[in-house]
Amino acid sequence: MRLSVEPAGRTEYGPGVVAELPDFVDGLGHSRVFVVTDRGLRATGIVERVEKILAAAGIEHAVHEDIGPNPSTAELDRGAAALRGFGDSVVLALGGGSALDAAKGISLLAGNPGASAADAERLWDASDGLPLIAVPTTAGTGAETNGFGVTEDVRARRKVYIGHSSVKPRIAVLDPELTLGLPARITAATGLDALVHGIESLASRGSTPFSAAYAAQAVGLVGRWLPIAYRDGGDLQARSELMLGAHLAGHALTLSGLGLVHGIGHALTAHTGTPHGVALAAVLEEVMAFSAPAAAAAYEVTARALHVGPSADWADAAVLAVHEISGAIGIKRPLRELGVALEDIPAIAAAAVADVVTENAPRLPSEAEVAELLRSVY
Ligand SMILES: NC(=O)c1ccc[n+]([C@@H]2O[C@H](COP(=O)([O-])OP(=O)(O)OC[C@H]3O[C@@H](n4cnc5c(N)ncnc54)[C@H](O)[C@@H]3O)[C@@H](O)[C@H]2O)c1
Ligand SMILES: [Fe+2]
Repeated sequence: MRLSVEPAGRTEYGPGVVAELPDFVDGLGHSRVFVVTDRGLRATGIVERVEKILAAAGIEHAVHEDIGPNPSTAELDRGAAALRGFGDSVVLALGGGSALDAAKGISLLAGNPGASAADAERLWDASDGLPLIAVPTTAGTGAETNGFGVTEDVRARRKVYIGHSSVKPRIAVLDPELTLGLPARITAATGLDALVHGIESLASRGSTPFSAAYAAQAVGLVGRWLPIAYRDGGDLQARSELMLGAHLAGHALTLSGLGLVHGIGHALTAHTGTPHGVALAAVLEEVMAFSAPAAAAAYEVTARALHVGPSADWADAAVLAVHEISGAIGIKRPLRELGVALEDIPAIAAAAVADVVTENAPRLPSEAEVAELLRSVY
């Protein structure tokens, strides 16, 4: 095996670490900050907390809040225009995966004055974006570990990947205190996303001993602490372990790629607006059962990490363990309840198979197989 791996970037982790932001900005040789966050976050008090930290250190800053869930290409273009107006700065990506992904696109577009988000596919070889610091406020996507974002081309109803090595966050600042107020419903959806990152990374065609090391640890942490954080959002230990698990899962997926759960999840979200983690939960167990013939070793690692078995059929044990976690956080719903129309299923199946994320699935499905799987959870 020939491997070339750059496993990690810089991570600063611990309750209260967000107070050190001015030092991190300074360390990057900058004194101005452009904060990118989503519209919902101000109500939590987090944006104000960060503004006060920056202001107290005399750091000139602007806050761009015009980002919604599953950010669109239009939102990226508006953000880039605002950043070009503000000028040279560190981009502080503050929020869940939506804000983090949007910040990467905005930073990259600002470094490429003539470009718009519609050029996403060509920007992979473009000029550098502005340097980023990522401060996740959900324990889920692991988007702070990589330089790509998922954005939505609303007119084409499809996900577009925008990214560049220069917009991989220079520093991931993981402060579990920021997730203490996350509502149970969002804790469930974002935490389930992290669990899927670990499981799909283990089973991915791109899995290596490096990604598997991150992924197994991530599955263990998320599997154990997600139900606890869901039941008691104020449990700082659960929040801390979950945040670390989600971050490690991010490193895993960045190294290995994912698979069919994400292919279907992206298509479901594009068709219905369903939150990412809820869309994944709708099909996770069924995709695992479908993939089992090609993922026996990965599902054994999954089952062991979730402390189930030993069992003659490790895949069954892994699916059952996932079923229990999913049940404990009340997240799995039939597609009908997510707003899917029966006649949309062929189009959703086609989009799932066409999504590049599906290429790493251990068992590659046909459109007909995905459609059948979707009907089974309708
Ligand atoms: N780049 C990657 O590696 C990667 C991986 C997986 C998913 N994603 C993308 O990430 C996005 C989903 O991100 P997400 O699951 O983190 O959700 P999100 O960013 O859309 O946030 C969900 C909701 O939670 C709110 N919120 C965030 N932090 C909060 C807090 N601390 N307290 C209270 N409310 C809070 C937000 O305002 C929002 O309304 C999708 O667009 C998905 O495609 C990216
Ligand atoms: Fe995800």
